[in-house]
Amino acid sequence: MKASLKKVVPTQMVLGVQWGDEGKGKIVDLLGDSAQVVARYQGGHNAGHTVKFGGMTFVLHLIPTGILRPGVDCLIGNGVVVHPGALLEEVAGLEAQGLQVDHRLYISRYAHLILPTHPALDQASEVACGSGKAIGTTGRGIGPAYIDKVGRRGFRAEDVLDETRLKERVAQCLELQNQRLNAVYNAPALTLDEMMEPLLRFRDRFAENIIDTTGFVHRALADGKNVLIEGAQGAMLDVDFGTYPFVTSSNTTSGGVMTGLGLSMRKVDRVIGVVKAYTTRVGNGPFPTELTDDMGEALRKAGHEFGATTGRPRRCGWFDAVVVRYAALINDLDCLALTKMDVLDNLDEIKICTAYRYKGATLTDWTDGVARWEEVEPIYETLPGWKQSLAGIQRFEDLPATAKAYIHRLEEVANVPVALVSVGPGRDETILV
Ligand code: GDP
Ligand code: IMO
Ligand code: MG
Repeated sequence: MKASLKKVVPTQMVLGVQWGDEGKGKIVDLLGDSAQVVARYQGGHNAGHTVKFGGMTFVLHLIPTGILRPGVDCLIGNGVVVHPGALLEEVAGLEAQGLQVDHRLYISRYAHLILPTHPALDQASEVACGSGKAIGTTGRGIGPAYIDKVGRRGFRAEDVLDETRLKERVAQCLELQNQRLNAVYNAPALTLDEMMEPLLRFRDRFAENIIDTTGFVHRALADGKNVLIEGAQGAMLDVDFGTYPFVTSSNTTSGGVMTGLGLSMRKVDRVIGVVKAYTTRVGNGPFPTELTDDMGEALRKAGHEFGATTGRPRRCGWFDAVVVRYAALINDLDCLALTKMDVLDNLDEIKICTAYRYKGATLTDWTDGVARWEEVEPIYETLPGWKQSLAGIQRFEDLPATAKAYIHRLEEVANVPVALVSVGPGRDETILV
C-alpha cells in the first residue's frame, strides 16, 4: 500500500480517526508550511491541539493551528461554535507568546456563539445525570450551543453587530435558560450583564473579522491558494457515527466540511486520518480495547496522556483496527498519519485488535452493528516490540524491522496506507513515507 504527502495538493483535510487527541495539531502544523489558509469547520474550544517546536509549546482550542505559521489566514467556519471569552483569551495567550494574530483570523458570520448559560447548562446536566450516565463532556457548553442552533434560537457571530436587537434577544433567551437552570437543575441564574459583557468585548475586538468564510475559501481556491482543513475531536465522537450518546455534538467526520464550511467534498483532494499507534479516550462511553491494568497506566505515563483542555487522565488501550477501518470508510480516508510510535518503544509485545467477539459471533466491521458496544470483546493479534528508541529517526528505511512490521500490519488490518510516521511531538520528529 502506498501513499505520499510529498506532492502538495490544493485542498487537504486532517481528521481524527479515534476518540480525539490523535495529534491532529502536530500534523496540521507540519502541513501548514504549504498552506495559505487553514480552516476549522466544527467543534469549539472543547478541542485541545498541542504543538511543539523551537522549544515552545502552543495549545490551540478554537483558533486553527495555522496561526502558528506566519502569513497563513485562519478561518473559523460556520459549523464551529465560538465562545467569545475563550476566543479573546486564546488570542491574548498567543500574542503573549509572540504571535501576530490580527488581520489573519476570520470568523464566519454564521458561526454560533456559546453564551455563558451554555457551559452552566452543560455542567448542570452532567451533574444531574450522575456518574453512571454522564457523558463526561468538557463542560464548555458545546452541546447546549448546538442545541440552540438546531432549535433555531441561537446567536450567530454577526448578531453582535446590532447591539440593541442583541440585548433584546439575549434578555428573552436568558429568561428561559435561567428557568431551566433554576427549576430543572437547581443551579444559579445568570444576569443580563453577565451575558452581554463577553459578547460586547467580542464585538469590540472582532467586528472587522466577522466575514463570509465560505466566500473566502472559494476565492482562495480560485486564486490558486492551498487550503488545509483542520478537524477537531475524532470519528468515534461524531454525533451521528460515533459511540452515541457518548459523543460530541457535531459531525467530526469529513462530511461536516460541506455544511460547516460550505465546501464540497468534491473539492477536497486528500483526506488524512490522524491515528495514534494505540488508542485513547477522554470522557465516558464504550472503548473496546481499553486497558484498565498496569499496561494502560504504562501507556498513559509514556504518552503523557492527560487532556489538553481539561487535564483529565486519558483512558488508554491497544490499537483498534475495527475502529480505524470504520473511520476510513465514513471519512473516505486517503492515508493515515500515524503518531506516537515512540510511546511503544519499550514494550516487549504490542497488541492489535483486528475484530470483536460479540455473543459468540466474530464481528469484523463496526457496521455489523451491535446493540451494546460495551459488551464486545476484542480479538487480538500480538506483534513483537522493537525495544529501542525511535527518537531521531528521519527515514522509513531506518526504522527497526519490527517497527516497520508493526506499521505494515496496521496498514493491512486498517486497509489504509500510512503516509507519515510521527516519533515525537516536534516538527522534525516526523518520517514522510
Ligand atoms: P490533537 O487534539 O489531535 O491535536 O492531539 P493533542 O494535542 O490533544 O494530543 C496529542 C499529544 O501528543 C500532544 O501533546 C502532542 O504534542 C503529542 N504528540 C504528537 N505526536 C507525537 C508523537 O509522535 N510522539 C509523542 N511522544 N508525542 C506526540
Ligand atoms: P481534540 O480536538 C478528546 C469528548 C469529551 C466527551 C465528549 C463530549 O483535542 O481531539 P463535549 O464537551 O464535546 O460535549 O464532550 O467528547 N471530547 C474530546 N475528547 N479530544 C477532543 O478534542 C475532545 N472534544 C470533546 O471528553 O467525552
Ligand atoms: Mg486534543
